[in-house]
Amino acid sequence: MNRSIIITLTTIFTVCAHADSETGKAVFDEWCATCHAAEGMMPGTIALEAKYQDSVPAALEERTDMTPEFIRHFVRKGVSVMAPFRKTEISDKELDALAAYLTAPE
Ligand code: HEC
Repeated sequence: MNRSIIITLTTIFTVCAHADSETGKAVFDEWCATCHAAEGMMPGTIALEAKYQDSVPAALEERTDMTPEFIRHFVRKGVSVMAPFRKTEISDKELDALAAYLTAPE
């Protein structure tokens, strides 16, 4: 394949991957950060600190052990005081981006 085509394709894929993680972060900031942000007295972060006793980070954005399936499960089913999110709130596409964002290596 011609070198410039490869460069163009690489650029397109990089831009798409980047846009995806930005959407994922935007979804997180809109729907999850109120409970799961790293800073402040956040109910999700506090509950997960109590659950894991520091064996994994309490803030979801700092975790490296979660899979996309794990995140999708909790977002759609909810847990404890965390209500399930409807598709009219977080679409499947947004959930994919959110799961990708939360499982992306730093
Ligand atoms: C109203 C506050 C609240 C909101 C909003 C919220 N969560 Fe939660 N979430 C919690 C609490 C509290 C827990 C811990 C429940 C427990 O196990 O005690 C939790 C647990 C989780 C878990 C399970 C983690 C584990 O290891 O057990 C995941 C994953 C999760 N939340 C993801 C999300 C995502 C993604 C969003 C945004 C779409 C979100 N949450 C929005 C409060 C919230």
